[in-house]
Amino acid sequence: YSTSKHRPRPDRLHLIGCGSSYYAAMWAKVWFETIAKIPTKVTYGSEAINITLKDPKETRIYITQSGETKDIIRASHNEKSDSIFIVTNQPFSHLGSSFFNTIDIGANIERGVAATKTFTLTCYALWELAWHWSSESKENELKVLDYQDALAEGIKHVLDREQTVATIAKMIARYDNALFLGRHWDYPIALEGALKLKEVSYIHAEGMPAAEMKHGPIALVDEKTPSIFTVTGSFDIDTIISNMREVKSRNGKVFAVVSPVNYDRVKEVADWTFRTCDIHGVAMEPLAANVVLQLLAYHVAVEKGLNPDRPRNLAKSVTV
Ligand code: G6P
Repeated sequence: YSTSKHRPRPDRLHLIGCGSSYYAAMWAKVWFETIAKIPTKVTYGSEAINITLKDPKETRIYITQSGETKDIIRASHNEKSDSIFIVTNQPFSHLGSSFFNTIDIGANIERGVAATKTFTLTCYALWELAWHWSSESKENELKVLDYQDALAEGIKHVLDREQTVATIAKMIARYDNALFLGRHWDYPIALEGALKLKEVSYIHAEGMPAAEMKHGPIALVDEKTPSIFTVTGSFDIDTIISNMREVKSRNGKVFAVVSPVNYDRVKEVADWTFRTCDIHGVAMEPLAANVVLQLLAYHVAVEKGLNPDRPRNLAKSVTV
């Protein structure tokens, strides 16, 4: 994908995906709206078949790392416009090789069934597109390269500390339920973290916006249900801290993946923390934090004697 390629700026965007690709779409919506200022909606592929009226003013982006997911093929079935995008890791797949604009995320082969590096690079490709459509990109095209380096550095920092995640995983493996919480750009990361834990470790997990917990799910919090927070960026830290206190006051354990700017505040409340490194560019922080949650799911599965590469009941691309 090259930012120099001519891609006219759409008036409105509609992102469509399934599973992890849907969460990548939710994450990207934040950036399409904040940096590119393009109103964006997100729909599940399986629900998009109900869209009979396709808005001619919106540009639709179908997101599917395999390029073969039946729900996405069905949803894009009647598309005629050449302004449609496919974001995929398989440019020669059914959808990747269609006449639509294909953006290859270039993640190379992902052997495990659960999306990991393809999730990260789908998010990154969509962020790049948001950047391309932002006014800032005209002023500073090279900045994209800074973000790439920052993301690579952030992920390396996490991988170098895998042992810390493995230690936390030993604790999480003892539970039957977990809540994943985050705000704003960390909210889709919480959803993806919960999905990953369910997929590979069979622990029931729910992701939600941190402050929504008090509107119902808080009834689930007790000593048997830990809450795993993702806290990057520097907005609204007081509300997050108060959400953590709500969990603690109901005997729930608090685990937090936290960026340096929030570390001191969060450490005072959380039972366990994983500190990510200082990353240039706030958009890359949640993607590095997400790798902590991916490793967590992996180590919980291993701890429980399960094969994280071959989760039960799941296939790489859902073709039925
Ligand atoms: C399956 C997998 C998920 C994946 C989803 C979408 O259900 O289990 O991990 O996120 O399909 O796959 P796609 O290839 O369309 O991104």
